[in-house]
Order: sequence, then structure tokens, then C-alpha cells
Amino acid sequence: MCGITGYIGSGDAVEIAINNLKRLEYRGYDSAGVAFPDTNSVSILRAPGKIVNLEALLSGASEHKHVAIAHTRWATHGRPCEANAHPHRDCTGQLAVVHNGIIENYAELRRELIAKGHEFASDTDTEVFAHLIEEMCELEKGCDKTEGVANAIRKALHLVKGSYALAVISQSAPDTVFVARKESPLIIGLGDGENFIGSDIPAVMRYTRKVLLLEDGDFAILTPNSVTLTDFEGAPVHREILDITWDDTAAEKGGHAHFMIKEIYENPRTVRETLRGRLMDDGEIVLPSLPFSPEQWQKFRRISIVACGTAYHAGVVGKMFFEQILRRPVEVNVASEYRYSDPILDEETLVVLISQSGETADTLAAMREAQHKGATTLAIVNVVGSTLARDADAVLLTQAGPEIGVASTKAYLAQLTALYLLGLYLAKHDNSGRANLTEVEYREYVAALRELPSQIEGILKEEATYALLAEELAKHHCFFFLGRRYDFAASLEAALKLKEISYIHAEAYPAGEMKHGPLALVEPGVAIVGFCTQPDTNEKMVSNLKEVKARDATIITLLLEGAETPDCSDFTLRVPVTKEAFMPLVSMVPMQLLAYHVARVLGCEIDQPRNLAKSVTVE
Ligand code: M6R
Repeated sequence: MCGITGYIGSGDAVEIAINNLKRLEYRGYDSAGVAFPDTNSVSILRAPGKIVNLEALLSGASEHKHVAIAHTRWATHGRPCEANAHPHRDCTGQLAVVHNGIIENYAELRRELIAKGHEFASDTDTEVFAHLIEEMCELEKGCDKTEGVANAIRKALHLVKGSYALAVISQSAPDTVFVARKESPLIIGLGDGENFIGSDIPAVMRYTRKVLLLEDGDFAILTPNSVTLTDFEGAPVHREILDITWDDTAAEKGGHAHFMIKEIYENPRTVRETLRGRLMDDGEIVLPSLPFSPEQWQKFRRISIVACGTAYHAGVVGKMFFEQILRRPVEVNVASEYRYSDPILDEETLVVLISQSGETADTLAAMREAQHKGATTLAIVNVVGSTLARDADAVLLTQAGPEIGVASTKAYLAQLTALYLLGLYLAKHDNSGRANLTEVEYREYVAALRELPSQIEGILKEEATYALLAEELAKHHCFFFLGRRYDFAASLEAALKLKEISYIHAEAYPAGEMKHGPLALVEPGVAIVGFCTQPDTNEKMVSNLKEVKARDATIITLLLEGAETPDCSDFTLRVPVTKEAFMPLVSMVPMQLLAYHVARVLGCEIDQPRNLAKSVTVE
């Protein structure tokens, strides 16, 4: 995920901005760059790869500057390379911008700007900002002064749809940094005769502990001695100064104790970002990164989903959803078994590979096997520039941002969101007559997708409940997670989450299977988490829970808001109502919180559990 830093003051601006940029390296990036006002124009230095490559470009020309903005890029539009790295300049070289976020209407704006004579030097959506501000400056006819540049930026912001944290410097206002925020984080660090900007608080903590957290719709003009805050119309706004008391390690985790819990809190944003630019205001789903026309999709008679671990569990939900609405055979496979099973593949098979890292050896081997046998491969992947993202025939990026905790959390929600979008898109464009999705149902799904981020936010507000329940549950030596249909798919991931970070034995079972063997293990000290979110099978689910209750297990039920509590339930958790197929996404947030807090109570190494690696690059 991109990172932004900036500095204005009497210090060495380029050096300070780059030092602060290093504090954002944990977010992951593929290139880095810096801009500073120079003799006649704004200078930019950019390098693919690590920040050290950027530092190798620094020379006397970049020393002793007093204003700089810097950036680490995590590619979304345009491959990782020097030309696509930030900062980007306008045609005249008089201004430079860095940006974090996605401009949804960039293609349209780019076309209009090119028609007006602007020349683009990159494939990025960000460059549109530079030319748009230039265009507004020309209209303003007053961009030789700070207020003129500010007005031009504000006008440009009104034309842009999407999310952004934006920083701009201009040769016409050489002692000023302009910033704006909408749905992407940006903070201002306040110094004495100097000011800083950063994507998060740790980015500026080496120099100051006083920060302003910008909110959506904030615009700020920074000079060495002042910060002027307004909205996009220029009306003054006020933000309280925050005194940061965290230590450095806590700061990197955004004040949280572990990356895992930080990433659980990033779930709502992850779903929003994965929907952004794909689910349009009119309810249409567009998947511009996929190189197939709606007609070309029809040639795929079978779909084979392949993945490992959490990504495989997302695939299990994907199979159910695809079969439900596409009415085509869909199989889901564990990648490590795939190529040894001599899979039946041909030109009419679409193989969907799901991976957070895009580097999992087994998933890559499955892709090669599929390609070798003539199937078309589609990667649902989080890391841009990863091997899977580069080598698959088509790519649908999840927008989870870097995931540091070994236990996957937000990536699962991003993978599900991408699968829901893909399934709905394919069903909507199906002209074979097989798909089972009416226009009304499609609209219901779309409305439910839009609700998901705020529903998750609601669950996160209840974190204290999970922390308390974890104290009780941590006393159990064995867990079963039971469910039917989509609830069973969810229970697979819930069990993995608990076992990998708390080291308590946990298994997922289709609820009806317990009496075919595992019931023999049920005794006091065993906890059973029963997922009860699928109305069609709920009665049967409750009967299954009564069977385990009779063997003295502790029963935790996960119920829909408003549903009656079964009398066998010892502890009850509630989740908001959404479409049945979307329940695994919603249900996983309480399960992640529960796993996290049980592991915390037990004093486990949460972010780096024993024996596990974030990216499994060996067979
Ligand atoms: O990077 P990938 O999504 O391909 O990784 C797959 C699994 O290794 C991963 O999901 C693993 O199971 C996690 N530890 C789950 O939390």
C-alpha cells in the first residue's frame, strides 16, 4: 500500500522526507520517489525497488532543499517501474504530486486532458491529478501565488471521483505543501518552525509527537510556521492536536498491540477498496482488469478453484456461490494436491487461483499445470507484481494492502469480496440460460455488498465482548466449529484462525457429520462454536448442537441479529443479517476477534506463530 511523507522547514527536506519514508516500508511497495522545488522547475527522483535505490540517486542538487514530498508506491494502475513511480509532474514541470488511493474516473479525465493537449508520461491514475491542477491553474490565471494554487487544487478535487491522500508542491508557491484527504489516511506532524506530512503517525514520530489527523474532505496548506486547514470549498475546519505517547513499536502497529488486530480493524476498508471502481453507482459491476468480453466468459464450461490455507477456504465459499448462481460445475482444490491428481483440464476450463502473497509455491505450480493443459488462469491476488499476478492469464487484484500478521485476516475478506463480484458479474452476463439470478436478486446482492463495510464496523465496536469471552474459552483444550452450507465454509476458516495462533486443537465439521465419528471426542473442556446463520438449515443445526450439549461441551452460538437464542447455548454472539452467501465474510470478523483474544489470553506469539511463515515459497 502506498506511503506518503513530506517536509517543510529549515532542515534538509529530502533527507528528512526519505528518512520518514523508511518508517512506511512495512506497508510494502515496489518503487519510491521524491520531489523538491529546484531552480526553474520541480525536480523529481524516482527508482524502482527499495528506498536504497532512490537514495543512490541523491546528489548535491537535492541537498539543503527546504521542501520535499516523497512516496512509496504499491502498484494498482500500471506496472511497477520508474515511469509509474511517484511523484508525477504536470506538462510544465512546475508542480508535482504524490497520491495514495484510486481515482475511479481517471480514464475519462485522462482522455479529456489528452484532448486538451496534455502529455502523459505514465500509466498511473495519479498523473491525472498533476495535469488537472495544471489545467485549473490555467483557468485560474493566478497560480503564481499560494492562494491561486490552492484554488486550482480544490477545483481539481471536485472533478475527481475515488479515494485519495494527496500532496502537491508547486514552483509558484515554493515555501508551501498542499495536502488533501478523502478515504485514504493522511496526517500532519507539527514541529517548531517545520511541519511534516505522513500516511500514518509512525512516519513522523522521529521528529514530532504532535499530530493532526486529517479527516475526509480536509484540505491543508503547510508552511514552516503554519498549517491552514479548510474543507474543499475553503471554509476553515478545526482538528484537535493529538499528543502521541506510544513507543515506536506500538506506533508501527497503529497503536495496536499486534499487526493481526490492526489488520482485523482494516477489514471494512479492505472490503470498500476491493469494491471501489468495480461496483458502480448504478449497480453495474465492471472488472476492467479482466481481458475477456462477457461473451468470452461463456466458453468456460467448468471452473476449478485452487488455493492454500485461508485462500482455499475463501475458494470453498466461492464454489458454493458460483454453483448457486451460475449453475455450472465448480470444483475447489487444495493446491498442494492439485498437480499430483492429474486434474481434468482443457480450453473450456477456467482455473481461478487465489492467493494473498501470489508467491505460494503450490499455487504457482497449480497455475503452471493448468496453463500446460490449455486452461485459462485467473489470479485473485493481493500483491501486485508477485509471480502469480505477473504470470496468470488474467488478474483480479484484491485491495487488502500489505498483510503482515502470519494469520491471514483482511485478505480473506478481500478474497471473498472479489469472488462475490466475479460470480455476480459472470451470472449477470450469462447468455447460456443456465445462470440462476434474476435482476431483482442481482440488485439485492449489490445492495448487500454495499452494506458490508458498515456491518463489519458494527461488529468491531463489540471487541470488548470478545476479549471477555476469550477469558472463558481459553480454558478449553479442544474446539469444534460446526455449520451447514455457507456456515460450514466459514467454520473451516474460523478453526484455522484459532489453531494457528492459539495452538489449541480446532477442527471444522459439517454439523451433521459429528455423529459419524467426532462425537466420540466430545467431553467437558471441549468448546463447540455453532454457526447458525443459514435460515434453511437452522433447525437441524440447533438439533446438532443439542447432541453435543448432551455430552457436556461448552456451546457458543453465532446467531443472526434478532434470532431466538437456542436453550442449549452457553454463550451467544450476534452478527448482522446479510445474504446467506455473504455470511462467511461477516461471521469471520467475530471469529478473528475471538481467535486473537484467546491467543492473547494464552500469551501466544500472535503475529509470528511457531512453525509458520507468511509466504510459503517451498513445497
Ligand atoms: O499467500 P497465500 O494466500 O497463497 O497463502 C496461503 C496460505 O499459506 C495462508 O493462507 C496460510 O494458511 C495462513 N497462515 C492462514 O492464516
